[in-house]
Amino acid sequence: MTTLLETDEVHLARAIELAEGGRGRTTPNPLVGAVVVKDETVLGEGFHTAFGAPHAEREALTATGTADTRGATMYVSLEPCCHVGKTPPCTDAIVEAGIKRVVVASEDPSDRASGRGLGILRDEGIEVVMAGGELAARARLLNQPFRKHARTGRPYVLFKSAMTLDGKVATRTGDSKWISGEASRRMAHHWRAECDAVAVGIGTALADDPLLTARVEGVHRQPRRIIFDSEARLPLDSQLVRGAGEIPLTVVISRAAPRLAADALEVAGADVIVATGENEPARVRNALSQIGAAGITSILLEGGPHLAGAFLDAGEVDEIRLFVAPVVVGGGAVVGGGAGGVDHVPPGAVQLVVGGHLPHPRRWTPAPVPRGARWARLR
Ligand SMILES: NC(=O)c1ccc[n+]([C@@H]2O[C@H](COP(=O)([O-])OP(=O)(O)OC[C@H]3O[C@@H](n4cnc5c(N)ncnc54)[C@H](OP(=O)(O)O)[C@@H]3O)[C@@H](O)[C@H]2O)c1
Repeated sequence: MTTLLETDEVHLARAIELAEGGRGRTTPNPLVGAVVVKDETVLGEGFHTAFGAPHAEREALTATGTADTRGATMYVSLEPCCHVGKTPPCTDAIVEAGIKRVVVASEDPSDRASGRGLGILRDEGIEVVMAGGELAARARLLNQPFRKHARTGRPYVLFKSAMTLDGKVATRTGDSKWISGEASRRMAHHWRAECDAVAVGIGTALADDPLLTARVEGVHRQPRRIIFDSEARLPLDSQLVRGAGEIPLTVVISRAAPRLAADALEVAGADVIVATGENEPARVRNALSQIGAAGITSILLEGGPHLAGAFLDAGEVDEIRLFVAPVVVGGGAVVGGGAGGVDHVPPGAVQLVVGGHLPHPRRWTPAPVPRGARWARLR
């Protein structure tokens, strides 16, 4: 790690900002941005726009057009790759362009990288500078799903929930829709589209018959839907199963599930996986390993409270985003059970959304997070 010049910081911050342009489209690849600068003039900028498309470094070099890039500096938000994947190695492009200095905001923790690209650049006589401090933290924060998946093989889990001031997630009749209002619903649908998958428990699937799709403007893809359903109770005529042909559906069952029910779900188009383990948190961990091995790097966990509790007990919740509605519904249990409480939540309430990352220091080194809530008021 070296101290950066003020101009280095400006260009590196720009590379990080550019990386955001690929959000929701690059998975399982990371978000990456790059800027090529010579004699204090920006020659080209680029970012990784989509999985399979050229990497940010090549985009930035292409954007330099006919400019002479020999002797230029490249600023890049993630260590350049040195392997052949869907596209050729970025280290080759950097060397061929005659770049003399590369400033990198964060290292790539995956097996095929982990400093290899930087070593190749140094061997070619290119000066490599690693950033530290806030810029490095921002660059790592951009790619939390990619980083956790690369280190552990399991997806990053973002738990989202909507609750009332008295801590309820539904009324005694199971009404939960309007605990989140229109603005928070739109926000949550964007989060669905940014994640590889959305997960709920069978309790929620039976109570709400949800679609779990991202239904909001500007969405480029739909997440896989994952239902934790030990006994394969998900009805074949549920919206989830009926849509399984168009939008992938995974049902996580246990060994206790009746064979006929599991087979029927598969015939209807669902992927069925069997989670093993002696209790619910163990089965969550096992399911996440299988789901991660299938290439899913991030999950939006939408509850309900029972499944969310198992994920928390398993230590597998990495981030929480909570909508808090200024209404009180009463009743004796989290899902409005017991005596009392209103039947329906009045629509249109203003929410507060709060959230933050949970540290798991021994398991996968997340980036440091700014103190306090990351999201303030919705409106
Ligand atoms: N306000 C909100 O943000 C929000 C969000 C979601 C849901 N909700 C509401 O919450 C209510 C449903 O919540 P819920 O707690 O009853 O149901 P849930 O958490 O959706 O589902 C729980 C069920 O999942 C199954 N499951 C399978 N594998 C599991 C595992 N490894 N660990 C834990 N559970 C596993 C278990 O049933 P089996 O053993 O039979 O498989 C368990 O009973 C509904 O009224 C819904 O509207 C509110």
